Amino acid sequence: MPGILKSIEQAQILDRVAVPGADAASKMIPQGPVKDTLTGKWLGHPLHPVLTDVAIGCWAAAGALDLIGKRHHKSAEVLTGLGIVAAVPTALSGIADWADTTGEERRVGMVHAAGNTVALATFAGSYLARRRGKQNRAKVLSMVAHAVLGGAGFLGGHLTYRLGSGVDRTAFDQGSDQWTPVLADEDLPEGSPVLARAGQIEVLVYRNSGVVCAIANTCSHRGGPLNEGKVDPESRTVTCPWHASEFDLCTGTVVHGPASAPQPKFDARINGGKVELRRSAG
Ligand code: FES
Repeated sequence: MPGILKSIEQAQILDRVAVPGADAASKMIPQGPVKDTLTGKWLGHPLHPVLTDVAIGCWAAAGALDLIGKRHHKSAEVLTGLGIVAAVPTALSGIADWADTTGEERRVGMVHAAGNTVALATFAGSYLARRRGKQNRAKVLSMVAHAVLGGAGFLGGHLTYRLGSGVDRTAFDQGSDQWTPVLADEDLPEGSPVLARAGQIEVLVYRNSGVVCAIANTCSHRGGPLNEGKVDPESRTVTCPWHASEFDLCTGTVVHGPASAPQPKFDARINGGKVELRRSAG
């Protein structure tokens, strides 16, 4: 299995479809409220894995009813139909995530999506067979669809757990709970963020109306460098240069996605002419 995964990751021929496909996905779902909804900004968590549970749960329940016997044919039909309906927003949320991927992630994501599309079409065939009373055909199609869905789901797990797609890139950037000096007070101008380092962690320190605040510099979405982003003093936000997620410079809150996880924030104080930071409890 590792050999197959490596082959998919390194198959540059897939880029002929994956690159224009991801560009088209970006145009189809541009930055804005729809993308924020589909990527999970409102949930504080990627939406796609939540929705997959609904579709897969319906189909798995229908498959279990198929094994029990004739009395449950109608229920299995309804569950298969519900799974097909749930697959639509699930696919859209996956496309919204996939639009921001590159390289290996983009290739594996495309094969993952292709497998899910085949599974969906096969479940649709199973649903039609159920409607026409062709129960044996429906069950066979359902089993085939589950097998394809399992393979596609395996690739989805690989995307997250091995390639880190969708993982909060600040998961380990929580910092020390001890006050740590990071720069001289005089080196922090009003309204212009400064990149500093607190131990192993890059932080973006900002002075706003005399109040000093700081957030992690690595974008939680896919690791973009926020110090290279655009700062808006009016809204007190910074926009990531990679995919335009916008964060509050003092609270780390996501103002606009595609990021769904907030930036870790730090308590700040001036002590002995130095700006000191520590991990924020709140
Ligand atoms: S890395 Fe994607 S918005 Fe920052």
